[in-house]
Amino acid sequence: MRKRLKALLATALSPNELVNVYNSYDIIGDIAVIRLTETSRRHGQTIAEMIMKVHKNVKTVLAQVGPVYGDFRLRRLEYLAGEKRTKTVHRESGCIFAVDLENCYFSPRLSYERMRIAKLVKDGETIVNMFAGVGCFSIVIAKHSNAAKIYSIDINPAAVQFMTENIKLNRVYGKVIPMEGDAKDVILQRLRNVADRVLMPLPEKALEYLPYALSALKNQAGWIHLYAFEHANKKENPTEKTAAKVAEKLKESNIKFEIPFSRVVRTTGPNWYQTVVDILCKGPVH
Ligand SMILES: C[S@@+](CC[C@H](N)C(=O)[O-])C[C@H]1O[C@@H](n2cnc3c(N)ncnc32)[C@H](O)[C@@H]1O
Repeated sequence: MRKRLKALLATALSPNELVNVYNSYDIIGDIAVIRLTETSRRHGQTIAEMIMKVHKNVKTVLAQVGPVYGDFRLRRLEYLAGEKRTKTVHRESGCIFAVDLENCYFSPRLSYERMRIAKLVKDGETIVNMFAGVGCFSIVIAKHSNAAKIYSIDINPAAVQFMTENIKLNRVYGKVIPMEGDAKDVILQRLRNVADRVLMPLPEKALEYLPYALSALKNQAGWIHLYAFEHANKKENPTEKTAAKVAEKLKESNIKFEIPFSRVVRTTGPNWYQTVVDILCKGPVH
């Protein structure tokens, strides 16, 4: 599919422009989101029409202009072709996610991570997802494990509204519990000492919010999955850098822990990586 698109695009774009466009689009439900650089921007319409020609299921093409921004982690989108809308329904790992791409964060690039975590969950676990978005991690876990409850917090009211809809669509009502607010407040007021496992899928705030993740764990013991963005040159290991920062931060909390697993989730730019570290917390040092 992408090969055919590349061949089609080669008829309209210079090799330099082609490099910038190719491979840098997501298909979310029936909407394609492409990233346009200054040079390829004037060909936006052509690129959009070719994407729709190659991907027959794509009904709308949007351009992401600028990076993901703000507390809600939104992207500025410009309409390019097809039906003029930003809402869609995406399917992943046997789950259905309704989402409005203009008002909620969503990335299909985390699908492997969502299943990886789901497979780690043991029967009867209570989980806190601190930055749940429209509920993707939580719902994949609910569908593919025997977790007891997955408390799912997000500060964006639109994301919580879609999460609530997705809970119904996926019939995980009562298992995935949507909660609106700042994760630190929600945990301190309602979710202290409840969790066997905490998810922190917000790289920008993960280190700052790590003490609250610890507060959510039962007796500060259990698993924390912490996502980060890391810069690393060729001689550096991005996951080791994240692990070192986590270790430094956890010194303040005076707990026993180890990091048995870490991985690069994806490359986000030249020498930039999204990493995840699985932290096994073992309670306070006595
Ligand atoms: C990168 S998204 C992750 C979404 C989701 N886990 C997924 O897989 O699609 C981060 C989410 O954290 C939310 N967020 C940002 N700051 C927050 C905070 N202080 N407390 C709770 N949620 C927050 C944003 O609204 C956004 O939906």
